[in-house]
Amino acid sequence: MKKIPVKPLWWHNGLYVIDQRKLPEKEVILKLDTIKKVYDAIKNLKIRGAPLIGCVSAYGVVVSFIENENLPLEKLKNKIKKDIEILKSARPTAYNLFYALNRMEKVVNMFNGDSKKNLKKLLIKEANNIYKEDLHACYKIGEYGNALIENGMNILTHCNAGGLATSGFGTALAPIYVANQKGKKIHVYVNETRPVLQGARLTSWELEKNRISYTLICDNMAGYLMSKKRIDIVIVGADRVARNGDTANKIGTYSLAVLANYHKIPFYVAAPLSTFDFNIETGEEIIIEQRNEDEIKKINGKYICPKNTYVFNPAFDLTPNYLITGFITEKGILKTEDIKNLGG
Ligand code: MRU
Repeated sequence: MKKIPVKPLWWHNGLYVIDQRKLPEKEVILKLDTIKKVYDAIKNLKIRGAPLIGCVSAYGVVVSFIENENLPLEKLKNKIKKDIEILKSARPTAYNLFYALNRMEKVVNMFNGDSKKNLKKLLIKEANNIYKEDLHACYKIGEYGNALIENGMNILTHCNAGGLATSGFGTALAPIYVANQKGKKIHVYVNETRPVLQGARLTSWELEKNRISYTLICDNMAGYLMSKKRIDIVIVGADRVARNGDTANKIGTYSLAVLANYHKIPFYVAAPLSTFDFNIETGEEIIIEQRNEDEIKKINGKYICPKNTYVFNPAFDLTPNYLITGFITEKGILKTEDIKNLGG
């Protein structure tokens, strides 16, 4: 496996993550040793990005085991299942949360042994599998996506779909990392991504760390750049993809897709198959998370508008399949028609 650009989590007899709320000012490491802390980290964006939410929640189930280890086996299993439900309620849109927790729940349900030690081993093994599979999938996304990137290209991305949002390679940023490793000269335009500024705070931070040339722009500047022919390709991540290819991703993605379509610029969604929800036919079935109004009304704790201002704050939007040129996955670059066949 190639050098991992960023390590946002690790398990070392316990679950450790980088507190993404504190970036880029400080690199603070958090130990998530209670289910309450794991829930809070997911809910309050200390960790975020669909694949990372999946990995952290999987290890969160091991945290639940350790926290309740003294209970008799059956009670312990029931408590872990309750904690799984709590974690599932942390955020509604990112499919990886449900994908990972359903896999962990299956381990608990299938366990019919009588040794708690064995159950713990199986839970750690499954969480490690989810983590390693994500590493592998994201690296493959990088390799397949690299084929779309030519020397000298200007790439636009939104939010943070980089190493920080996954086990380490990223999804939308993975092709950029691979292209850079292969010596291609590329430049990335980073949308700041209001209101939580994942682009400005996180994507800039990790591109800087990996010495990739980038320019930060406000979200409302993308159209102007496109009209000046300064964007060759748009690559974004996904929180959930429906069977028909409709995609939920960070608010603002849809506007970019419309702009890219108008300017005839290829628009790609990069995501591992663990983000594809084969249980839903279209994006209309995806629940879009609504977040706290203060994310919009305040910057650095200070109001930027009258206190009573009404606010609309959806964290994600839906991009219809016909605006998406293709999906960069670990199985290659897929068209909308290919997705249904994958889900069976
Ligand atoms: O609210 P966030 O920061 O969790 O939103 C993240 C995104 O929208 C990402 O683009 C998506 O999860 C893909 S991450 C590889």
